[in-house]
Amino acid sequence: MCGIVGYVGDKQAVGFLLEGLSKLEYRGYDSAGIAVYDGQKIRVEKSVGRLASLQDKISGNMPVGTTGIGHTRWATHGRPSDINAHPHTDCSGDFVVVHNGIIENYLTLKEELIERGHAFKSETDTEVVAHLLEEVYNGDFVSSVREVLQRIEGSYSLVFMSRRDPGTLICTKQDNPLVIGIGNGENFIASDIPAIINRTRRTFILNDGELAVVKKDSIKIMNRRGEPVTKKVFEVNWNAEAAEKGGYEHFMLKEINEQPKAVRDTLSQRISKDGQTITLDELKWNADYLKSFNKIYIVACGTAYHAGLVGKFYIEKLARIPVTVDVASEFRYRDPIVDENTLLIVVSQSGETSDTLAALKESKRRGAKTLALTNVVGSSIAREADQVLYTWAGPEIAVASTKAYTTQLILFFVLALYMAQILGTKKPAFIADLIAQLKNVPAQISETLSDVEPIKTFAKRYGFNEDVFYIGRQLDYDVALEGALKLKEISYIHAEAYAAGELKHGTLALIVEGVPVIALATQKSVYEKTLSNIKEVKARDAVVIGIASAGDEELSKYVDHVIHVPVTDELLEPLLAVVPLQLLAYYAAITRGCDVDKPRNLAKSVTVE
Ligand code: F6R
Repeated sequence: MCGIVGYVGDKQAVGFLLEGLSKLEYRGYDSAGIAVYDGQKIRVEKSVGRLASLQDKISGNMPVGTTGIGHTRWATHGRPSDINAHPHTDCSGDFVVVHNGIIENYLTLKEELIERGHAFKSETDTEVVAHLLEEVYNGDFVSSVREVLQRIEGSYSLVFMSRRDPGTLICTKQDNPLVIGIGNGENFIASDIPAIINRTRRTFILNDGELAVVKKDSIKIMNRRGEPVTKKVFEVNWNAEAAEKGGYEHFMLKEINEQPKAVRDTLSQRISKDGQTITLDELKWNADYLKSFNKIYIVACGTAYHAGLVGKFYIEKLARIPVTVDVASEFRYRDPIVDENTLLIVVSQSGETSDTLAALKESKRRGAKTLALTNVVGSSIAREADQVLYTWAGPEIAVASTKAYTTQLILFFVLALYMAQILGTKKPAFIADLIAQLKNVPAQISETLSDVEPIKTFAKRYGFNEDVFYIGRQLDYDVALEGALKLKEISYIHAEAYAAGELKHGTLALIVEGVPVIALATQKSVYEKTLSNIKEVKARDAVVIGIASAGDEELSKYVDHVIHVPVTDELLEPLLAVVPLQLLAYYAAITRGCDVDKPRNLAKSVTVE
């Protein structure tokens, strides 16, 4: 998730480029860059760090020119550095490009282009786009860009500038946002509306596959076939704050709704083209390597720890390797039995949580091999671990973690399948079937997100209760823990999760008339057992909200309300079942008037003990 801007007009481009990027820093802030055409050549300036570093670098010597593009980066391919920052150029410096998204076939393209004599400077996927344009350029900017688009695969929003075609920017998008701001004698391009609303409120919102040729006094839009498209002007009436949240009231709701895309991005390049196997090029493990471990630890904090619990289930079920999960603040002080035969997996959205980092360092000191699952390229944990798998969720801003959790689950699932593949613990056909279901998950999350009204009603009805209990068995229990954490951290309602079978060993004493119990019953293998626990709480007059798979008609006989989620393999149900729980927490917090994005006493990244 990066921020993109473009300007073409009569004014100095650098003014809008820096202003627009400052409004987009919430999309990524590990490096920034701009490119401006000065009438003779394109000057590119980039700097690692926040936008302020770029501003410092060019202050006193601002690029001059009235056409330019800019970028603020959230690294995916290639660590944050001056060289990896956008814009990227071809060999001649005549073509520059800024990009948000992932070019999935960049390695193949890069090899081809290197063979044809192109010299690459960065480690990014984006740079291939600039070289490819140089390679196919036929004297016509538009048709050359269209040719590039036919060769690249993946998700993107892209803006191209060429020294050979002054005063023209070309932009296009696929699965990433892009908007054109319509000015008077000047036009603007941005990945998001906040960048442009100080300049204009009249916009064209591009659809996937559309390409726009933007000059200072014209905007021509065409579809994939090159046919002209007439678009309606979209008048933006959000204020600046709402625009930053994409029109959502809070970052948390925006991030909940970003989950289909975050999951899709995290899966991209990790499934083979034929859909039969998992490809984790980052790891390149073999059976001997995996067999050298006699134990795996998963260590993390908070929501990431809850993802680790699901990860243990996946690895044990699919790869049949025993896994212990621990909270980092406990692990580091209890003299854990860790040596060179241990694989330590740490999970951290921010990559900066101090307890997790300390556990990682201590395990390395004792000889363990280490793997980090994190969302932030170049973070302390990413740098410290031997190997890294990234969740490509984009920046998570709300304190309560949502899209990071679902993408961590995706990585664990992919990792467990990968291990099973290597060790032969599951048959290829079984793995291929799970991969087929995995590919449906983004669409199924979208489906779950579309049915929000009943959840709002429950939140209003039960939002003022003092206590809420969550129950479930197996993976449902792991999701229940996450659901309870979401509710307590943003709505301040006391919420606890219990393994459903454990209720009668104490907690049942707390279940009295009217106490809300959220009962998860998506796990088919323990369904009957869960049902009997639900009957136990119903017999004490609890109000029970069930979470079940679509088509389950049985549960509604025993509970007060049912929320259905789409049908998938029970291993993948946590990715769907967690969504109504996130929404329930969100709307309960709204009902109680809480500050959803900044809950009291909590910080996004816990870098102290
Ligand atoms: C809860 C939440 C926290 C974090 C925890 C670990 O919604 O966000 O519990 O999960 O502080 O943070 P990371 O994943 O950055 O290590």
